[in-house]
Amino acid sequence: MSDVRVKFNLTNGEDGQDEDIFNPPAPLLAGAHCSGLQNYHDLYRTSINDADGFWRNVASDLHFEQGTSKGLEYNFDAKAGPVYCKFMDGAKTNISYNCLERNIKRGLGDKIAYIFEGNEPSDVSTWTYKELHAQVVQFSAVLRAHGVQRGDVVALYLPMIPELAVAMLACARIGAMHSVVFAGFSAESLAARVVDARCRVVVTADGVFRGAKPIGLKSIADAAVALAAQEDVKVEAVIMVEHLKRVTKPDGVELPKADYSEITFVYETEMQKCSGIDSPVEWMDAESPLFLLYTSGSTGKPKGIQHTTAGYMTYAYATTKYTFDTKDDDVYWCTADCGWITGHSYLLYGPLMNGLKGIWYEGVPTYPTPSRMWDAVDKYGVTKLYTSPTAARALMALGNKWLESTSRKSLKVIGTVGEPINPAAWMWLYKKVGLSNVSIVDTYWQTETGGHMITCLPGATPMKPGAAAMPFFGASPVLLDAEGRVIEGPGEGSLCFDRAWPGMMRGIYGDEQRFVKTYFAPFNGYYFTGDGARRDEDGYLWITGRVDDLMNVSGHLLSTAEIESALVAHEKVAEAAVVAAPHDIKGSFPYAFVTLNVGEKIDEKLVAELKKMVREKIGALAVPDVIQEAPGLPKTRSGKVTRRILRKIAEGSESGIGDTTTLVDESVIKQLISGRSARA
Ligand code: WT7
Repeated sequence: MSDVRVKFNLTNGEDGQDEDIFNPPAPLLAGAHCSGLQNYHDLYRTSINDADGFWRNVASDLHFEQGTSKGLEYNFDAKAGPVYCKFMDGAKTNISYNCLERNIKRGLGDKIAYIFEGNEPSDVSTWTYKELHAQVVQFSAVLRAHGVQRGDVVALYLPMIPELAVAMLACARIGAMHSVVFAGFSAESLAARVVDARCRVVVTADGVFRGAKPIGLKSIADAAVALAAQEDVKVEAVIMVEHLKRVTKPDGVELPKADYSEITFVYETEMQKCSGIDSPVEWMDAESPLFLLYTSGSTGKPKGIQHTTAGYMTYAYATTKYTFDTKDDDVYWCTADCGWITGHSYLLYGPLMNGLKGIWYEGVPTYPTPSRMWDAVDKYGVTKLYTSPTAARALMALGNKWLESTSRKSLKVIGTVGEPINPAAWMWLYKKVGLSNVSIVDTYWQTETGGHMITCLPGATPMKPGAAAMPFFGASPVLLDAEGRVIEGPGEGSLCFDRAWPGMMRGIYGDEQRFVKTYFAPFNGYYFTGDGARRDEDGYLWITGRVDDLMNVSGHLLSTAEIESALVAHEKVAEAAVVAAPHDIKGSFPYAFVTLNVGEKIDEKLVAELKKMVREKIGALAVPDVIQEAPGLPKTRSGKVTRRILRKIAEGSESGIGDTTTLVDESVIKQLISGRSARA
């Protein structure tokens, strides 16, 4: 099919070209859950004007053990009273039941829930809904046998193996909160999360292969348990999946050794002990906590974002259904890791509640070759693919020859998430990967929002490359100027939401004040995202990026303060400032300026030590690509580091630095600029 291009706006785009608009392919309109732009506008209007009616209708697809007449209740005005949000208060349900039993009862028991595709292409297994259910019941019995109860928090430090899905659903089944910690995080990061939520049980694996590289996870988990003990949090059981034992191993690789300590319990053995035990579903109150997921915070300490049951469930279900226009015969593949919210909402809960056949992939997109993703798309006939702009840019940079041996004809929708997508990467996904025969949905949302907030719908919204486009049902975005005034029509400002939606976070674990301070205090009466956005003449929303001290590296949020505190922990460092600098593939990368103690000099050894420090305190993903020595940092008279200036220096665009007269020591800037040129 040829490109369907409509130019309904002849203003120039940012890069001087006409902004193109691409209509959804005609076959996607027919039979879509939301078909055509008019249908979108009608449904959207209902979702705002009659929110309770709209959500009641969505929720009627799901099972509630006990109903309620309540809908969405909330207050965003911190001056008028406590900020809160409740959805279907009084109802009782269970999300794990809705993912499993509900589907089995409607005849999907023998349908494949997941194709688990291992790191090696030959390591594949398929699990039906019934099979997944049986594993979940059994593991929930294991958790119960270890004393895990409703309301407890269980840390899951697992790679992308089937047991991660099982463990998450098992926690939800018994009303325990899971706290999934991305398996790329360090022992210190894991320990901080275990301590914050006082976890007594940690589930992990002996190790995992990332491409050809083996990683020993158990030793990291053990180190974290020891660190937690220093803070008086005693982990009683580390349940370990023996994953390395069963995988196909690349030749000649030495496997990491796992220690079988007294508190180590082998997953497989524990499962056998609990085989045949009935472990019933806990019926949870609508507002019972469902899970914690830690995300970076401006102050450096990660925030335990708390989601609850009915609202998160209904929102994950609805956004999956509409954004991917789910169909019974879909083969759905979300490439995200379950260590992030995308994996929670759109690899686990959303697709299962929609009864989809999904792919759960353990590896990286470039192993064994950069054709891996497209090979898998052809192998399984993937219809809906959800991935990241970083993955797209990385694969695009490796050349189109990696596409040539595959057809990718099955693809209907390609979603992206995590960071703004640049038009070039968008066009590559649309034309080269999707052969101009797909809808691209650029989904804007956050760990905090639970699900999509701004996105195209594949059978409804004409697409503009790089625009997140239109609000999802029930989401009401507003742009505010610096004085907090609402910007009507075209313009740019801070992106906020002026009303609640079912999937929104309910709090920060153990820190109610921080919840209000971070999200509701900046603009009273609004939920503030921390992002900037622009609205164009057609009402399309374009995300312009973070406006706070968080940076987005490969779609992962990092806190500049957290990296800085890792750097200043080194005895030779007096002060550090980290900013985001643009990167062709990762979007941006951490660029660090460090002021050393008197008499110290930067050299390769120190740079390596500093990088190691960040890797150990946070994880590999936070390691600065560049560490530059700074004789001093530019500061205002009140002592605040002016990151705006450091960003310009890191970018190499000195001309844009602007007024520096309010700084204490202007000469510092010249030194930093020449220091940067010396490096480059
Ligand atoms: C931040 C949230 C949402 C799951 C993955 C990240 C940025 C996210 C987009 C997008 C532009 C985006 C924002 C947001 N972001 N999606 N489609 N376009 N920016 O979750 O770690 O909570 O990060 O990611 O800056 O605030 P997260």
